Amino acid sequence: MIDVVAVVGNPRPGGRTTRVAQAVAARVAALGSGEVETIELADHAARMFDPSDPALGEVTTRVAGADVAVLASPTYKASFTGLLKAFLDRYTGDGLAGVVAVPVMLGGSPAHSLAPDTQLRPVLVELGAVVPTRSVYVVDTEMDRLEETLDRWWSGAEAVLRGCSVSLPPPMKILVTGGAGFVGSHTVVELLEAGHEVTILDDFSNSERSVVDRIGRITGKRPAVVEGDIRNPSALDSAVAGGYDAVFHFAARKSVAESVEEPLLYYQVNVTGTVNLLDAMSRHGVRTIVFSSSCTVYGDPQELPVTEDHPFGPAANPYGRTKQMMEHALMDLAAADPSWRIASLRYFNPVGAHPSGLIGEDPRGVPDNLMPYVTRVAAGRLPELRIFGNDYPTPDGTGVRDYVHVVDLARGHLAALDYVVGSSGYHAWNLGTGQGSSVLELVETFQRVTGRTVPYRFAPRRPGDVAATWADPSKAERELGWKAKHDLADMCRDAWRWESSR
Ligand code: UD1
Repeated sequence: MIDVVAVVGNPRPGGRTTRVAQAVAARVAALGSGEVETIELADHAARMFDPSDPALGEVTTRVAGADVAVLASPTYKASFTGLLKAFLDRYTGDGLAGVVAVPVMLGGSPAHSLAPDTQLRPVLVELGAVVPTRSVYVVDTEMDRLEETLDRWWSGAEAVLRGCSVSLPPPMKILVTGGAGFVGSHTVVELLEAGHEVTILDDFSNSERSVVDRIGRITGKRPAVVEGDIRNPSALDSAVAGGYDAVFHFAARKSVAESVEEPLLYYQVNVTGTVNLLDAMSRHGVRTIVFSSSCTVYGDPQELPVTEDHPFGPAANPYGRTKQMMEHALMDLAAADPSWRIASLRYFNPVGAHPSGLIGEDPRGVPDNLMPYVTRVAAGRLPELRIFGNDYPTPDGTGVRDYVHVVDLARGHLAALDYVVGSSGYHAWNLGTGQGSSVLELVETFQRVTGRTVPYRFAPRRPGDVAATWADPSKAERELGWKAKHDLADMCRDAWRWESSR
């Protein structure tokens, strides 16, 4: 039960940081009977939250009477670190159920905020040792979609804030294969923000080691890392031996063109690697898996939108065939042993990036996929986009896909985990928005929201491409309570922030 929430905002009363603090406080207050006292530190900008400042002493005394404190400040010049330190120094601890720390990253550019952030993290950890603490980073350019930013983090925060008075599912220990990759890293962020303990298993063959630090900067927690290749059964065996509650399996190769040239690589990594993983899980008694599948399993869709009942189509390439084989292996396993809990998530077209601009899609070499190609053309790193085909039977002749924001997708994995924990067997869900967009629509939206020009020309159809596919995501909404919240404009904006902040 939460009765009183004290909010410390600033630097300008009524300014953006205070607005963020109040939005968080309103959510916190809704958990209990909810009285909110807002304490705005006018004038602190000049003082930068020096811990010895008497004004801070007064604030901490007032906050000490509350159940929950929401502390918000820009990270600029380490002012937030000062606020937290003052809070730690003076806080007496009587009855405080939790602290929500809201570092506001300025200017939309992580570079402005990273230096203070490295000082901030240890203080947040120290505070967390005294009283349950959650942090959510808000980039001040996200003010127009603040509620969505808060949504990303809310379920984990709620768990902490309710403290001991409400029973909530305990945090789980989770192994994430491919956790440094595009969808993997965003899912690790969501898992950490929900309070789970995460170990990444990755061979860094198509990702950077710095992703792990960046995940740490976003969440204030650094996941453990095991470097290893899923083709190696003994490496997998020792990795899985850590007493995990569940495995999220992202590690795989995903280039269609490469799979045509090197099919055995795809069978080894995707199929043998998955079998090795399931074998190791079985030996160590871990029987819960959330698997990264793809709408490619449906082949050329016979009906739109595509539901989960759509039959697996003939695969157009070895990559698609390996995804089907991996799903078949999982289905057979669930049929043979009903104690397995398996979620197979069929992604449509994941794009976008974390709104912090700290993690995103970073393919090595020239990208195969549309959005990373578009962002590189916009940045001048590639001369022009080739649009593969303008004679498809679609409204503007270009291919239609269901683009889904990677943060929405990541959150779908947590919803699937919650579901399979309570229901054994094999379950498949489409993760998409339910909305098809053409290549031209994506390019036009990108140009509109970023103000950048993307030169393009039409080129022949790419072999193996389908004209149009989009999801019926209603099963995920009905069973998981999951629904994509971001639109194409958000996806373009976030993809561009990631590209342009590097
Ligand atoms: C592709 C794979 C799919 C895989 C997914 C992984 C194929 C045929 N499909 O999906 O199996 O699961 O990547 O992320 O490769 N386009 C251009 N110019 C470009 C790049 C793409 O016009 O330079 C067009 C494509 O023709 C398509 C749309 O953009 O209409 C999306 O392409 P892409 O991002 O590669 O995704 P998919 O082909 O849908």
